[in-house]
Amino acid sequence: MSSQSDLIHIFNGIPFTSRSSIDLLRALNAFQAREDDLLLVSYPKSGTHWLAEIIKHLYTSKVSLTSPLEFGDVSKLEELSFIGSKRIIPTHLSYDMLPADFKAKKCKAIYIIRNPKDTAVSLFHYYRDNPHLPTIDTWHGYLDMFLRGEVVCGSWFDHILGWEEHRNEMSTLFLYYEAMKKDLPKTIRKISSFLGININDNEISEICKKTSFNEMRSNVEKEKSDVNHTVCALTSNKKLIFRKGTVGDWKNYFSNKQDRLFDELYRSRMDSSYLAKHISY
Ligand code: A3P
Repeated sequence: MSSQSDLIHIFNGIPFTSRSSIDLLRALNAFQAREDDLLLVSYPKSGTHWLAEIIKHLYTSKVSLTSPLEFGDVSKLEELSFIGSKRIIPTHLSYDMLPADFKAKKCKAIYIIRNPKDTAVSLFHYYRDNPHLPTIDTWHGYLDMFLRGEVVCGSWFDHILGWEEHRNEMSTLFLYYEAMKKDLPKTIRKISSFLGININDNEISEICKKTSFNEMRSNVEKEKSDVNHTVCALTSNKKLIFRKGTVGDWKNYFSNKQDRLFDELYRSRMDSSYLAKHISY
């Protein structure tokens, strides 16, 4: 069994889980991108699996949804190079750490953003329920870590602002979890037009049904017996992904003081952010 200190390692100042080897993180510099690669980018617990499931249903021809770019060891590079079809590659990497070849080839990226308070609560549960992450004792102690950017993948603010700063260097579509909850067809239309996919209203409503929280969760439950299951496997324990899938759960966790502190930090970091206008906060 691994000790607590084996569960996280720091690379470029950012905490990573042991699922990413330092050798892989270094080797990613040399990653060969392809012009038709599609990146699905997110800070953890922002709705990555939901987005990935939608994207998979949008393509009628064969595509390969990979595990997150930064998960695994150096053999990952070779593994990805053998994929014959279009690659859909999720990643939680900061913009700075993204392999340069994606930028040189101007690949498309879809970045999903969720209210950071809900993201923090979702990540709290992920820490609590995941034996591959260090033990968290209290919500209070965890929230301090989150605000200091000492959780996996570092600071939510740095992640968002880094991708925002370079948004015109690649072709990036920003999506918002809360907007998807409110009007999923609208978001699906946005994604289709970004990817150049023709889709009609019936197809959109089919995708909405197949990617609802309940549908995705029940597919995971019956996955073992169902060979046709479609929910993607980006993490080792898929049950952990589907907790509540709601907006505003943070209100059940934050004290007034924590809420004030969070708001202060949010204002100071996001004050001149272009994305802040669109983020549901
Ligand atoms: P909660 O913990 O708040 O329930 P990620 O995929 O980036 O790890 O994000 C996980 C979060 O997205 C979890 O949030 C999960 O419940 C939510 N989620 C997963 N599938 C969803 C869906 N189809 N609709 C809405 N939320 C979903």
